[in-house]
This record gives sequence, structure tokens and C-alpha cells, in this order.
Amino acid sequence: MNEKKVLFTIFGGTGDLAQRKLYPSLFRLYRKGDLVESFAVIGTARRPWSDETYRNIIKETIASLDPTEEEADAFASHFYYQSHDVQDTEHYDTLKKLADELDEKYDLEGNRLFYLAMSPNFFGTIVSHLKSQGMLDSKGYHRVIIEKPFGTDYETASQLNEEITQVFQEEEIYRIDHYLGKEMVQNISAIRFANSIFESLWSNRYIDNIQINIAEDLGVEERGGYYDQSGALKDMVQNHILQVLSLLAMEPPVAFSDKEIRAEKIKALEAVRVYTAEEVAKNFVRAQYGPGSMEGQDYTAYKEELNVDPNSSTETFVAGKFIIDNFRWSGVPFYVRTGKRLTEKGTRINIVFKQVPVNVFKDSVGGSCEQKQLSPNVLTIYIQPTEGFSLSLNGKEVGQGFNMLPIRLEHRNSAEIIENTPEAYEKLMLDSLNGDGTNFTHWKEVAQSWHIVDVIRQTWDQDPSELPQYSARSMGPKEAYELLEKDGFEWIWAPDEWYRKRDLLS
Ligand code: BG6
Repeated sequence: MNEKKVLFTIFGGTGDLAQRKLYPSLFRLYRKGDLVESFAVIGTARRPWSDETYRNIIKETIASLDPTEEEADAFASHFYYQSHDVQDTEHYDTLKKLADELDEKYDLEGNRLFYLAMSPNFFGTIVSHLKSQGMLDSKGYHRVIIEKPFGTDYETASQLNEEITQVFQEEEIYRIDHYLGKEMVQNISAIRFANSIFESLWSNRYIDNIQINIAEDLGVEERGGYYDQSGALKDMVQNHILQVLSLLAMEPPVAFSDKEIRAEKIKALEAVRVYTAEEVAKNFVRAQYGPGSMEGQDYTAYKEELNVDPNSSTETFVAGKFIIDNFRWSGVPFYVRTGKRLTEKGTRINIVFKQVPVNVFKDSVGGSCEQKQLSPNVLTIYIQPTEGFSLSLNGKEVGQGFNMLPIRLEHRNSAEIIENTPEAYEKLMLDSLNGDGTNFTHWKEVAQSWHIVDVIRQTWDQDPSELPQYSARSMGPKEAYELLEKDGFEWIWAPDEWYRKRDLLS
């Protein structure tokens, strides 16, 4: 047991993220003994809740984890609610008073972790008040966890960063990208750096292309208001996709420490080509979901979703090709694809190896000789919903002759392991309590990601042509297939084919 002593102050304490992710994660840490007696949580938001109402909500949010009544009561007793207007200086004085009292009561040694889980417009205001009103005067550590989006382009991100770094040092800032807390995203480094067979093949000598897919079957649900302003490029590519890409592309770090890993990720992102407008037009595709039907169920178009502008030209799908201009990756396209209302929810990476230099296997057809078809070797990393990896090889079919047969070596984590795997937020909360920034994004990563994405956004904003549509529950528009076809490749993951063959998708 390694008890952490800390006061959490959660801005946005009544919000969806806090209720769905943060409180259950804190409870799991409590159960595991990372949080025991010496911790307290102040939830703040505008609503005028009492501690009692807040604690009842906390108990509801952890109900699915089946706590006993005593356990739930004991856990919830550490939670305090403070109605708060983030712009009102006096409110921070009240907050400080409560923080000091709780510090004393729970013996927290002045350690304070601030979680900004609310509209990013207020991040700057909040941190400057934390400083000016003395919330950071306690003797322990002070750290801030910041939810995405970190800015809406490089300019706004940079301004926000400026405001935050006037109060917190870079090593005290934990910018969340919850994909970095996922088990199999963390496993990318294990697969690469603990297996000589992979790392020695990990370059343009042996790899043809890399495909990163983050597909979602859901539409925008209740988040139309936010999403319509953001779109898939900013919602998924700027952060999750580029983070995964940097882990795949980075050089081996000299040590597995946050400083070394981040340094390599930054270098990898800096090598990603920042496109010209012409290159964007050639290498990136956007689209929006129209209506569709799958297995007899009808789905409405994006434009008809709640809080979405009926004339919206926001993209719900992006496919693109990134080029990395360094010795290791020159000539290897990194294809990415993400979208809402696709066939299945699935995050998976395909590393497609080059074909053998000479195919010696031939078929005699009539009098002539034709080469047998060989499938490429593909290493697939399954991130979710299944977790694991597989390697597809070519083998010989049993029996007479010499027919080729694709074979797959596969490891999938069992349902039980997946069930017991700590949730991304749980891991990230614990990392921040341990002062470990490995799985958080450094400012330089955020900045470079915006540079890469901003030109794509600007090019699209200046393009008056009609946005391509794709049928809900398909895998995107035809342009996304053409993107690879023109390079002589194809998407390895095609979950829609199964449904199409059975006439279940239209
Ligand atoms: C969030 C996006 O960052 O990631 C959402 O804002 C998206 O639009 C979500 O649905 C996907 O996360 P996960 O963990 O469900 O793959």
C-alpha cells in the first residue's frame, strides 16, 4: 500500500466527465489503497449544492462498482462541495479557507491537485486566481490536470499555455490525452522496445505503410453543440491520433522515463511534414455522415442530430496520410482514419510489412507461369474494444502442391483481464499523484500537433466544395479508399465487408 496524501479540487465537479470518469476512478484508487484516509476532494461548480447532495451524487456514480454501504459512505465522506463562480475573486478566498481546513483535518501535507474539467475559456482565469488568492501557498506540491481541448488552434493553445505557465511550471502541468492511459497504447512501447524482432524491422527498409484507425459506431449523441464547432480533425486527429503516431514513430528512448520519452515523441512530431495547401488537398479527406441503415436499423444524418446546424459543414470523418521526413520513415505513409457512425467501435493499428523482394512461388496455369498471391505480413495492435496483437504470416496449406495460406499468430487479453484493467483515467490520476508525466502531453507536443493540423483546417475552411457524405455505419466515403489505392495500398481493417456480404448494410 502506498497511500497518497492529497487534496483534489475539481473545477467542473458537477459535470459529465467528473461523474462518468473521475469519481469512479478515485473510488478504484481508494479500493486499491492508493487513497486511504488522507485525501479530500472539493468539487466546485456554479450549482448551489450542499455537501450532502454532492455526496449522494458521488455514491450514485460509483454504484456500478458495487461498493458496500459502509464503503460508499466512508468514501463519499471525503467529498466537499463549494458553489463557485470562477470569475469571482472572493470565491477563491472561501475555497482557500476550506482547502486549509481540509489540509489540517486530513493531514494532507499541503499537497494540492487541481483538475480543470470544464470549459477551457476559464482555464486562464482559474489558474491566475489560484495563485493570487493564495491557494498555492501550502507547503506541499501543486499540480494541475487539464482536460482537452487544449486550445482550438496554435494561437489559442499558445495563449492558454502562456496563462498557465505564469502560474505552474511545465512539470506541474498534466495535459490529459486519455488515449495515453489506455493499456494497449502503453503497450506500443513494450511491443517495440522489448522485442528485437520488431524493433529491428521498424523502419522504411521493411515497413510499407502504417495504418491507425480510431472508429466509433456512435454518432455525436448529446454533444452536437461542442462537436459541430470542433469536427473530427480537432476532436481526434490533433490529439489522440497524433499521440499514437508519435509513439509508433519515435526513436527508442535512452531510458523509459517521462523526460526521455517525451523528448523522442517531440522529435517524431517535429519530423511530421507540415503540409502546404496543395499537399492537404492531395493527402487528406473529410466527410460527414448521411443517413444509413444496418441490420434493419435506420440512422439519421449528422445534420439532423440534436444541436447541430442543419447546414453544417463540420466533418465527422477524416482519413489522411502523414509523411514523416526523417531517415527512419522516409517513404512510409502513415495513414490515419477516424470517424463517428462507422461500422464498429474499434481502435487498431496495422503495421504493414513490405513483400518479400522476390516471390519465388509460381502457379502453372495452362502453359504459362503466374506468381502466387502473397498477403503482406501485418502486425496488428488491437487497442479497443479487444486488447492484444496479432501477426499475420504466409504458410503452406497442408497437402499436395504448394498453396499459400495466411496464418495469424494472435494474442488477445481475456475478458477477465480487460475487465480488471485499470481505466485510463484511473491510471492517469495515479500517474499525476506520483508526479509521473510520461502519459501526459508536453506543451511542445501540443504545439507541434496544432501546427500540423492548423494548415489542414485552414485549407478546408477555404475550400467551398461540397463535403463528401458517407452512409451511417459504413467505413467512410469512397475518397478514403482512393487515398490508399492511388499509392497501391488498401485499408487492412474492413469491418463493413462482413455486413455488406450479407446485405446488412446500405
Ligand atoms: C474524446 C472525443 O476525446 O474521445 C470524443 O472528444 C470521442 O468525441 C472519445 O468519442 C473517444 O474515446 P474512447 O476512449 O471512447 O475511444
